[in-house]
Amino acid sequence: MSQITPTSKRSGTPVHAAVVGLQWGDEGKGKIVDLLTSRYDCIVRYNGGANAGHTVQVGKERYALHLIPSGILSSGKINIVGNGVVVDPEKVLDEIDGLRARGVEVGANLRISDRAHVVMPYHKDQDAALEELLEKRSGKAGASGSIGTTRRGIGPAYSDKVRRSTALRMGDLLDHALLLRKLDAICGLRMAELEALGATVKPLVPKELADRFAAAGERLRPHIDDTVYLLHDQIRAGRSVLFEGANACLLDIDHGTFPYVTSSNCSTLGIPAGSGVPGRMIGKVYGIMKAYSTRVGGGPFVTELLDATGERIRQRGREYGTTTGRPRRCGWLDLVAVKYSVMVCGADAIACTLLDVLSGFDELKICTGYRRADGTVTDRFIPDAERMHGFTPVYETLPGWQRELGTCTDRDDLPVEARRYLGFVEEFVGIPVELVSVGPERTQTFESNERFAAMR
Ligand code: IMP
Repeated sequence: MSQITPTSKRSGTPVHAAVVGLQWGDEGKGKIVDLLTSRYDCIVRYNGGANAGHTVQVGKERYALHLIPSGILSSGKINIVGNGVVVDPEKVLDEIDGLRARGVEVGANLRISDRAHVVMPYHKDQDAALEELLEKRSGKAGASGSIGTTRRGIGPAYSDKVRRSTALRMGDLLDHALLLRKLDAICGLRMAELEALGATVKPLVPKELADRFAAAGERLRPHIDDTVYLLHDQIRAGRSVLFEGANACLLDIDHGTFPYVTSSNCSTLGIPAGSGVPGRMIGKVYGIMKAYSTRVGGGPFVTELLDATGERIRQRGREYGTTTGRPRRCGWLDLVAVKYSVMVCGADAIACTLLDVLSGFDELKICTGYRRADGTVTDRFIPDAERMHGFTPVYETLPGWQRELGTCTDRDDLPVEARRYLGFVEEFVGIPVELVSVGPERTQTFESNERFAAMR
């Protein structure tokens, strides 16, 4: 991988970039961000919270990051948790302690927006209580109503942000009296809401919560900052920025498979609001695409495989959640979905991950259309679960390859069938596959400057 920061041909200034998942999350974004990090000065999270889980392998060490940008694993970078993120203060402290215990520097290189909203314990209770209530009603997870959330309190924390009067922001943790005043107003109402959901929780005591979270705030004080000015100061000083999307485009609250989505704008459209940096400043968008599809929780999944093939992908791809350990639903690559995400996110290039997982299949299927219940076919994605009922995939079948790919370090090392597979993706989606990953190690991702489609 080259170490040079891309610069604009016209002005010579750095091109700020974004990395975003093109499917339902878990595309291996952390690994790609970790690799691209060497070219950028600031790494920014702009959405989501501890629902995200990035696994990064450095040598023999495997790091699971939830809130802290993966740039923390490279020295000399500024890692920013933007205002659009919802922060669980105790989780972030655990993450900081865990990284420090393994010798990773976490100091002035971690900045957390004073305007990022706080995830409180009662948000997690609300999240779980609502999910359980809806599951009880419908008889099974994700069947009707329940989302299959990570139960990390994400939805309730964003709900409070939108409701305003019951919200807490990271800056509030630095003022005990203010925090107590706000919690005094919040706790009574929250208890009533929890009781209405049928939750059995201990009474919320404002003073206890204020003491506990002001203490967390004190520990986080050196990191809490006005990250909007910080970012613009960095940009004005000629530094380059990489925006790290959490979750993924098809989980975007506005553009994903609603209501089976998360509660933030996880497509690149969330960057301006979630970081304070205008979208026009972003010069390059890398869309991360797993070579097949997975999702966790409920919601439409047209190419889902509920058979031995799905299980084989799950085992080979170690498809279990980083955050919750849940087995992920697995299926063939859905290019209708990927092409839609490329359009919404303005992706310029694809990084294809986990290509090695597909070794050993005689044939591989790629979805290029959806057949509706009435037999008609569409090549358009419909970001609404209700309207995707009864859709079945229209597949192209491509020859598979038998060879393991883990040692491939270059596009020419790949079996011709693997190159054709990537060429098919390029042709269908209309942008190049610039990065290919064949394993978890830093050395197992390579760049391709030529288009695979030319080789088909
Ligand atoms: P929530 O974000 O915990 O509210 O969960 C909403 C939906 O998004 C659920 O289906 C989760 O499984 C899914 N989800 C949230 N974050 C991620 C992620 O990082 N990877 C994959 N799925 C996610």
